Amino acid sequence: VTLADPAAPLSTPEGIRDPYAVYRRLREVAPVHWSETFNAWIVTSYQHVREVFHAHDRFSSVGKAARNIHLLPPDVRARVPLVELSELRPALSSADPPVHARQKSLVVRPLSPRRLASKRAWVESLCADLTESMAREREPDLIRHFSFPLAYRCILGLFGAPLEHVPLYREATEARAAFTGAQNVGGRQGADPESALRYERASVALRESLEALYPALREHPDESVISSLLHPADSAKELDLDELFITLKGFIAAGPENIIYALPTAMHELLRHPEQLDMVRADPSLAAAAYEEAVRFDTPNQFNLRIAAVDTELGGATIRAGDQVLNFKASANRDPAVWTDPDRFDITRDQNEPEGGTVAFGQGIHFCAGAGIARLEGPVGIAVLLARFPHLKIAEGWVPEWPTPRKLATLPLIL
Ligand code: HEM
Repeated sequence: VTLADPAAPLSTPEGIRDPYAVYRRLREVAPVHWSETFNAWIVTSYQHVREVFHAHDRFSSVGKAARNIHLLPPDVRARVPLVELSELRPALSSADPPVHARQKSLVVRPLSPRRLASKRAWVESLCADLTESMAREREPDLIRHFSFPLAYRCILGLFGAPLEHVPLYREATEARAAFTGAQNVGGRQGADPESALRYERASVALRESLEALYPALREHPDESVISSLLHPADSAKELDLDELFITLKGFIAAGPENIIYALPTAMHELLRHPEQLDMVRADPSLAAAAYEEAVRFDTPNQFNLRIAAVDTELGGATIRAGDQVLNFKASANRDPAVWTDPDRFDITRDQNEPEGGTVAFGQGIHFCAGAGIARLEGPVGIAVLLARFPHLKIAEGWVPEWPTPRKLATLPLIL
């Protein structure tokens, strides 16, 4: 930890507990800051975070985990072909135009507002089932017993995959996070070989499970995400098997991780602010505002990585082609230059106060493909929980734990 680096505290226990104090200082002293600790530019002001999201020609999404692959010992690298494919061949959030546009157009079709409107009843029944099973737990935990299974059931439902596949999706997500996390946060060091091998095994199992579903869906198209990718409207856009796999895998990587922790964050803040909780109890349609405020107030996944595509300027700083850029949307969403009293959790606030609105779901071409389903699942989950448990409380003596990347680890409840 270099004291001269104002971003350094982000990797200390104190900074992990309260990164917002560190962001505040960074916004004040250097909103576009080169950090030796992170071997990356740290971008913290709303204005510059938005600029990075929108300027995809200057800040590329390709090759974000490439360094991890290149740092692997050659004998290990030779044994992880699917990891290499997934991390080196661009897909969705790791792609730039024009590859990105083709893949994105196919994944968003089944997630259009019209299609999602017809899914409300299904999401309500998933939430109702989970509240019943949570009610039977001796030590109910909102993440373990509710938001975690909900996120995976939702994503598998959208895919059109059977629920028995949940463990495969989960392992694929966690193995990838373990592999890429080592690089994204630390910078110089690569992932260890064991995490590469674990990620390969998870990818093989996931690919087999996905490809087993293709023949039936090729015969009988439906409204699922997999079916959409198998049947592009324009046959010139047809994806080969490798691209199908990495696009679906990219979707899985982006989906559950954020959504698992957004709903507990909303419930955590509501339970800490009883007057706001009462407002939502009295008018359940306010659950949507509570969810939106939670993703602003403690934005899941804190930052997105970009790689400078060219030598460029940002906020007076000179960024070199190839430099890593950590775009801290969580800090942008607390920037007092554009938000009134940003450190206050307030479900009545105007989320469009800054021109350009929240950056929680990203902006520009990579805007979250799952924002619609998240904004359905989160508020429905809150409303169902509050209706089923009128006396809900946080378990006594519990203190939040924040692993990195920042997410609530547990939220034990008294029902
Ligand atoms: C509260 C929950 C969520 C939040 C805060 C969130 C946030 C984000 C953000 C910030 C990005 C942009 C990443 C970048 O610019 O590099 C993104 C992309 C993406 N998200 Fe979400 N997300 C959430 C839930 C979901 C869900 C539930 C799904 C799927 C069902 C999903 C699917 C995707 C996909 C496929 C992308 C890639 C889009 C692209 O690169 O064009 N997200 N998300």
